[in-house]
Amino acid sequence: MLVETIAPAVPAALQGADRRTMTMTTDPHPPLTQATRDLADETATAGLARALASCARAGDVIALTGNLGAGKTSFARAFVRAFHGREHEEVPSPTFTLVQTYPGQRGELWHVDAYRLRAPDEILELGLDDAFPDGIILIEWPERLGAHLPRRRLDISLSHGPTETSRQAILKDQGGGDWCQRLGESEVTQ
Ligand SMILES: Nc1ncnc2c1ncn2[C@@H]1O[C@H](COP(=O)(O)OP(=O)(O)O)[C@@H](O)[C@H]1O
Ligand SMILES: [Mg+2]
Repeated sequence: MLVETIAPAVPAALQGADRRTMTMTTDPHPPLTQATRDLADETATAGLARALASCARAGDVIALTGNLGAGKTSFARAFVRAFHGREHEEVPSPTFTLVQTYPGQRGELWHVDAYRLRAPDEILELGLDDAFPDGIILIEWPERLGAHLPRRRLDISLSHGPTETSRQAILKDQGGGDWCQRLGESEVTQ
């Protein structure tokens, strides 16, 4: 059901000037909150990543889905830089190492690229369990984790838009992570 009356509560960080939607279920389980954001270029993608990084906290899991070239790593790089407050930090892609970790005051940040996992259990060998509950985890190709993918997470699905540099992000808060609220707060404090 589209709830018109909650529209003013959509945080500024999720309000694309261009397009937005917000739906809530009346399910007894934690509400699913969804927002769509049109990203005109890589700078806009980085802006969304920065807004999320500014309000990320220990125990958060952000699952990035989308085809090759959709912008998952680009998003993750901007997130890592904002998390560290180092705009020009070199952020290697974990394509081959599968995991890169970054210490931080709000917890250790894990950037995982699960594309090359041969089996979901392999993620345990890489120590993902150690990342909980004090770490913040960004995962590319989260579907490769199978049952090891935490249920409580923020899903971000990236897809190509109508132009070379445009992307669309669909954010789904799976499990009451208060992401929408937090993004609103982060906008206020930035
Ligand atoms: N709006 C955008 N958001 C993210 N990346 C973009 C955007 N527009 C163009 N790009 C380019 O698309 C490519 C995305 O690559 P990458 O982030 O490695 O994708 P993935 O990790 O999803 O395979 C990069 O070359 C980046 O410069
Ligand atoms: Mg990638």
